[in-house]
Amino acid sequence: MGIDFSRIADRYDESRGGSERGQRFAAELAPHLPPGLLLEVGVGTGVVAAAMRQPVIGVDIAAGMLKSARQRLGARVVRSDGRGLPFRDGCFSGGYAVWVLHLVEDQAGLFSEVRRVLAPGGTFVIVNINRPAPDDLDAILKPMYVELLGDRDGRDLPERLAPLAEAAGLQVKDVLAGEPFRREVSGPEEADRIERREGAIFWDLDQDRWRELVEPVLGRLRAFGDRPVAREHHHQLLVLERRSR
Ligand SMILES: C[S@@+](CC[C@H](N)C(=O)[O-])C[C@H]1O[C@@H](n2cnc3c(N)ncnc32)[C@H](O)[C@@H]1O
Repeated sequence: MGIDFSRIADRYDESRGGSERGQRFAAELAPHLPPGLLLEVGVGTGVVAAAMRQPVIGVDIAAGMLKSARQRLGARVVRSDGRGLPFRDGCFSGGYAVWVLHLVEDQAGLFSEVRRVLAPGGTFVIVNINRPAPDDLDAILKPMYVELLGDRDGRDLPERLAPLAEAAGLQVKDVLAGEPFRREVSGPEEADRIERREGAIFWDLDQDRWRELVEPVLGRLRAFGDRPVAREHHHQLLVLERRSR
């Protein structure tokens, strides 16, 4: 399984860049994908699939997210875990997953299932989450995230995923840097975002951990003042190809 995003489905698009972000990722993915039918694992609200110029079938474990995806993609969405796909062997010419692998417990199982449904020679692209470049706000935030993530930190980095994918029969073709996301944000704005518990990392945090780890950081962010910081977030594309055998 992974983390079900239903609880944030209503606010997901407004909090994560919506259709505009979908268009950006679709444009980044397209040059690496073959023509034909594509699979999106963790389709969410469908913003990326809706911007692709070829047919996409999307799966997700979250009924709440799929409700929005259905409005964008019609019947081309299925509720399913990426580790047990309801499709026959070799039926997709390619596919992708955007901001999903950090949430998936059994990454090896997901890769082996993706390999099964890809046609021989088919391509699958993983886009990992956006990570901030060092800046004044990151200096305040980073120690908290390191502590909260523990050994989950870096779960979707290519150096961790590549050996799992290779073992499942998906060969690494390329690791590429995506176009960075840039935005101006102030300390109090970052604090508000955390307080709204927009990030999945905060969803199951109990009150004691919140008080111990998060509240001091909220205080530092607010004390930082309204000076906007030009933040830059980076992601990568891991391009995999199904071996013929
Ligand atoms: C951060 S959202 C990204 C959604 C979409 N790819 C996007 O870029 O907007 C992660 C999505 O992956 C889904 N997910 C997590 N684990 C999954 C799994 N094992 N199989 C299918 N979907 C999964 C979540 O429910 C959520 O909708």
